[in-house]
Amino acid sequence: MQTDMSKLNADQPIGVFDSGIGGLTVVRSLAELLPSEEIVYLGDTARLPYGTKSAETIRRFAHEDTEFLIERQVKMVIVACHSATSAALPFLKKDYKLPIIGVIEPGARAAVKLTANRRIGVIGTPATISAGEYERAILAVDPNVRVIAKSTPLFVPLVEEGWVDRPVTHQIIAEYLTSFKQDKVDTLLLGCTHYPLLAPALDRFFEHKVKLVDSGDETAQTAHEVLEKMKLLRSSSHKGGCRFYLTDLSPNFRTIGERFLGEPMGDVARVSISHEF
Ligand code: DGL
Repeated sequence: MQTDMSKLNADQPIGVFDSGIGGLTVVRSLAELLPSEEIVYLGDTARLPYGTKSAETIRRFAHEDTEFLIERQVKMVIVACHSATSAALPFLKKDYKLPIIGVIEPGARAAVKLTANRRIGVIGTPATISAGEYERAILAVDPNVRVIAKSTPLFVPLVEEGWVDRPVTHQIIAEYLTSFKQDKVDTLLLGCTHYPLLAPALDRFFEHKVKLVDSGDETAQTAHEVLEKMKLLRSSSHKGGCRFYLTDLSPNFRTIGERFLGEPMGDVARVSISHEF
């Protein structure tokens, strides 16, 4: 399905998709920065996680997610999932005409702005780290930065379980990230939807000496800039909201979702987006 670009208008919603409900951290940033906008959120909870799957599979899922949002007449698609951005963003941009933004470039730009010693750490899922897109995006802004990237897959289940301040959490953080202290990184890019919820524990581990970059805020900023440039920002007199679609309603989706969103989720609809289920 394609969008007729000449017909895009400010009153259409912004589409956001993620592999699950972690992308609600991006919705939270968007709602804060652009309170007049309507948001359509798709979380592909039935096929979560994306971060341990092959790039080819993630690309197929990302296309189906994008199609779903375009069918709901969105004016822009935000790929809130770092794994999907890593594997699929250039393909989506080539295949669809409407503005599509991911979480990697905004986060990379912010990290380069923040680093004083030009040593940036990046953490993410195996799919995100093996794709190397964060590294490429950072080096495109400043080729003299040293990027140290590491996949930290256990952080996702810890956050889903709500274990953000347990002894085991601090132990796993130390296990994964002690080398970043030795490498003297002064900025750490949180390259996964789930990691902002670990920010207090990470901050404690680095004794408040490392700047943590949450791509959600930066992505919302980019969405604002793109919409403004295209004259697609909704009038400030409108009070925005969010419609939630999930491909599976697991028993605890609401508890976890509200943790990411920071407020009650309201109505949530279950949808099928693939012929496989
Ligand atoms: N949303 C994914 C990401 O940001 C994390 C969860 C998953 O692996 O699907 O990479």
